[in-house]
Amino acid sequence: MSAFVNVNGRLTDAASAVISVFDHGFLYGEGVYEVYRTYHAEPFLFDRHMQRLRASAAMIHLAVPFSDAEIRRRSEDTSRAAGLGLQADGTWREAYVRILLTRGIGEITYDPAATPEPSLIIIAKPLPVVPDTHYSAGVKVVFVDPIRNHPRSVSPLIKSNNLLNNALGMQQAIRQGAAEGIFRNYRGELAECAQSNLFVVKDGVLRTPPLDAGLLAGITRAFVLEVAALAGVPAEEAVLFDRDLLEADEAFFTSSTKEIVPIVRVGESSIGGGTPGPVTGQLLAAFRARAEELTRPPQPA
Ligand code: PDD
Repeated sequence: MSAFVNVNGRLTDAASAVISVFDHGFLYGEGVYEVYRTYHAEPFLFDRHMQRLRASAAMIHLAVPFSDAEIRRRSEDTSRAAGLGLQADGTWREAYVRILLTRGIGEITYDPAATPEPSLIIIAKPLPVVPDTHYSAGVKVVFVDPIRNHPRSVSPLIKSNNLLNNALGMQQAIRQGAAEGIFRNYRGELAECAQSNLFVVKDGVLRTPPLDAGLLAGITRAFVLEVAALAGVPAEEAVLFDRDLLEADEAFFTSSTKEIVPIVRVGESSIGGGTPGPVTGQLLAAFRARAEELTRPPQPA
């Protein structure tokens, strides 16, 4: 892994990147984060990630004493140090960038007065490759046993470093040979996946659970809804249950690093015909075209 890391302003290679064991991000999982990818070395939807980072931080009463420009500068420097971007042979090596903001280093106490300075950590590494077959043939998902956090517990709207619930759900999915785990909420409605948002298509209409179902306000989720509107695909937020997924014509999940991944099996049941459907294909093509449009580098005259 050729990662580079910026720890509180200090740029290092992966092996030298260290943080105090008294950081409350480590001690308590107290912190928030973002993950973005690049297209042509251009951070994708960076402003939206910064808005969500600030919203997450506000929900845990954590100040963000950095401008968006400063976070962007550190992120881009870290990506460049990792050798990402335009290569000598003219190809692009795209970045996965994880920005973590924690409560900071201090005495072992929940009193925030002990941690006057938050820690800002930026990890840049090559964007993990999603096998082409995931897009062309689709993947299997499973329902998982843990429920998504109750909104009045650690709210799913907070993109929190406290990820034990997600990890447990995802690890169950991995044990069952699935690419994602589907979380229900405390009311038994579908919420989202362990690391992505969920969509279904039925009779040509795209549906995704509303934020009120208790899920992360995915940036890709919102972008897909915009792309659907541009492509003329009717879309709505709707309360969904197991049967809405099991009886869907098509289904997919979305995230910053994976775009749109078709779901063709839920456990032992196949979705639609067991192959990615036409609406999913149309949206993936429209998504990529729009991402390209928003990030295309200026062409030499
Ligand atoms: N995960 N829901 C959860 C629980 C997530 O962790 C993520 C993203 C999403 C999709 O959000 P977005 O479209 O803004 O990436 C939904 C990131 C990629 C991660 O944890 O690595």
